[in-house]
Amino acid sequence: MVKEFFRHFWKAKDEHSLHSPFLFEFYNDIIKQKSLPFESGDIIALAKDLSRDQRELLINDLGAGSKFSNKKTKKVSGIAKSSVKSFKWSKIIARIIHKYEFATVLELGTSLGLTTAMMGRATPHGKIYTFEGCSNTLSVAKENLSKLSVNNATAILGDLDSTLENTVKQLPRLDLVFFDANHQYAPTLRYFKLCLSKAHENSCFVFDDIYWSEGMTKAWEEIKEHPEVTISLDFFQIGIVFFRKKQPKQHFTLKA
Ligand SMILES: C[S@@+](CC[C@H](N)C(=O)[O-])C[C@H]1O[C@@H](n2cnc3c(N)ncnc32)[C@H](O)[C@@H]1O
Repeated sequence: MVKEFFRHFWKAKDEHSLHSPFLFEFYNDIIKQKSLPFESGDIIALAKDLSRDQRELLINDLGAGSKFSNKKTKKVSGIAKSSVKSFKWSKIIARIIHKYEFATVLELGTSLGLTTAMMGRATPHGKIYTFEGCSNTLSVAKENLSKLSVNNATAILGDLDSTLENTVKQLPRLDLVFFDANHQYAPTLRYFKLCLSKAHENSCFVFDDIYWSEGMTKAWEEIKEHPEVTISLDFFQIGIVFFRKKQPKQHFTLKA
């Protein structure tokens, strides 16, 4: 990960490397932009409350686990602290959803539902389908979504290996998918291929932690090379891909 970080650091460019008007606008309006086109103060305030929440949850981890702790129980405060760190990315995802008026959004890995809330606010007339394998975590997420009055998110409990396919089959198309659950090579590619069946010209897939492990890096490289993928944007923490057929295939390493 350290090697990849330095490789990214030296290679990463800004909007001046983007000659396509679509990507130039994407970078300026979404990556460089700081504000959100909807109210989010209550989501940030709730995240701060949760970072002091001493409730202990029994965790059913169906993913790759944590690099730092494999305890069976976790405090809500601990889970919330890592979510607060990732608000930069939830905001970026929310701006993508809002800018392109995406209405069908999948989030693989709900955790406490804070990114779900951001996504729900970004598309008030759209629908978020969020998947979580741990029932105790999902109970807290549902409580949070209700406190924030985010009513356009459907939470699906269970292992993605048994829940994702059924939901994808029922949806006509997927506008945005945020892959943030099982950070391992084979599941990442499996979920990608499942979702690809409902991707369209303007869909956007976002992958978290693309350099988290060798397996994730390998999965990211294969996703970039997939024939349906035309554009890949590597921000080190996350990777974004598009399927725009008008665009020649190109990979970009960018600063965020
Ligand atoms: C990194 S967290 C998600 C964070 C959330 N997207 C956010 O931005 O706040 C990953 C979540 O995915 C869930 N998860 C991992 N593997 C899973 C699987 N195979 N099926 C369903 N959920 C899974 C974990 O329980 C955990 O809550």
